[in-house]
Amino acid sequence: MAGMHKPPLPTSFTRRDWGRAALAMALAPWSLSAQQALGAPDDAKRAVRWQNDPFALGVASGQPRADSVVLWTRLLVQEADAALNAQPLAVQCEVFADEALRQRVGQWTVMTDAQRGMSVHVEAKGLQPLRHYWYRFTCGSATSPVGRTRTTPVAPDKAALLRMALASCQHFEQGAFTAHRDIAQQDLDLVLFVGDYIYESSNPRYLVRAHQGGVPKTLEEYRARHAQYKGDADLRACHAAHPWVMTWDDHEVVNDYANDRDQNYTDPQVFLRRRAAAYQAYFEHMPLRLGPDAANPANMRIHDRMAWGQLADIWTLDNRQYRSYHACPDPLKGGGRVVMGCNELADTQRTLLGMDQERWLTQGLNTSQAAWKVVAQGTQMSSTGLATPMGRSAFTDGWDGYPMARERFLQNIVDAQLRDVLVLGGDVHMNVAAQLRVQPNDEKSPIVASELVTTSITSRGMSETLAAQIRSNNPDIAHLRPDERGYTLIQITPGGVQSAFKTTANPAQSGSVFATQAQFAVKRGVAGVVKN
Ligand SMILES: [Fe+2]
Repeated sequence: MAGMHKPPLPTSFTRRDWGRAALAMALAPWSLSAQQALGAPDDAKRAVRWQNDPFALGVASGQPRADSVVLWTRLLVQEADAALNAQPLAVQCEVFADEALRQRVGQWTVMTDAQRGMSVHVEAKGLQPLRHYWYRFTCGSATSPVGRTRTTPVAPDKAALLRMALASCQHFEQGAFTAHRDIAQQDLDLVLFVGDYIYESSNPRYLVRAHQGGVPKTLEEYRARHAQYKGDADLRACHAAHPWVMTWDDHEVVNDYANDRDQNYTDPQVFLRRRAAAYQAYFEHMPLRLGPDAANPANMRIHDRMAWGQLADIWTLDNRQYRSYHACPDPLKGGGRVVMGCNELADTQRTLLGMDQERWLTQGLNTSQAAWKVVAQGTQMSSTGLATPMGRSAFTDGWDGYPMARERFLQNIVDAQLRDVLVLGGDVHMNVAAQLRVQPNDEKSPIVASELVTTSITSRGMSETLAAQIRSNNPDIAHLRPDERGYTLIQITPGGVQSAFKTTANPAQSGSVFATQAQFAVKRGVAGVVKN
């Protein structure tokens, strides 16, 4: 991956260095070290008087570690404050050990500017393992809401408990984000969000509220779409309540894109500029570490691995940026479709993750010492094909469209004698609990892993008619329901995984109550989901 060369930055600044610092930031707009190395002159802080609340998009935390967490906000500069766009602004971030904000344990001053969309990313370091912290930002006369976050345990850990909410797919137009309010009120360690955070497109059906503007293509348009989503109070509450661990799927850029190709077969060079704009806006709005690739948003690494002590290693995968193109595509309209008799599916060179990420994952899994190996990614791994007179059908956008890559992943579990692999996904707008076999639905092929897929926060699911066909054609699927919206609670202990699909039939009602649709368990040492 190409990374923009960044000039070396000193670790501390005097006021004399101010102009040089601003220049360095301009050259390296994504450099976290540049932001954090800067001290803010007191008069710069005092000078800023806001007419409107610049913290209307809220605060967030993410990518927790045992001693650090990423804290995020983005200043929303409205018309009355437009003059402030022209200058770098100093933002203070404070971290406290108590909810009353009396015991301050850290304070950072960082700079932001219009070039980075006024986004603020602070890597708060020097924290203690497995505890809550509270944080807030200040810019001139404005103070942000208070967020709460949590660090991970160290290994070896005594806590040996991980509680999280798995969520995905939040089409703004198709429902209220009441599921996020419910998640915010849960006692959790983290939220695991596996993609479709924004939607680029509109659907005239199920219109509960409307996107502002058309389909985004430019950086400014993607920023505006993200800002509209963060304008939702329930989503802000969920970010403020828990740290998030995240990956993306397709709608953060455009439906069913694959690598450098979109559905319209746009010139890759043109599409890659759009993708870079979408990636940059995404990183500007999320509590993510800005890695070495961040200087060049054409290629942004999001896949990551985190440890929850020795209890669980969690991989968050990117199944969009590096994937092979869709198999047997319609020459007029690309993207996923249902195919029968597509020989290309048998091509072992095809990959959903890209060969580099696949190798990185395999190596990590095979050397992991954690009790549970949690593989979180954007979509459903178990098969949803149907028997037809022309052969078994496959939807080419999901893992069914990359069956040899799926087989490699599952065969490695056998070859490396891995146990306790849990695959988590989203994207398909339905709750799914499934057994994962090297050969899907073949009873002679042993169950090697367990799968839980969460339904969407709001996005509408498929018909019950189609769901019934999928269930009857796929005995590996223990549960599949597309009719309700919500999220999935997952609790992991050394002895097992407990999950509950928390759902409501009507996400459009702001007072929706979330009930348990079904519960599935996975026992340590025994691959496969069990209803309870
Ligand atoms: Fe989705």
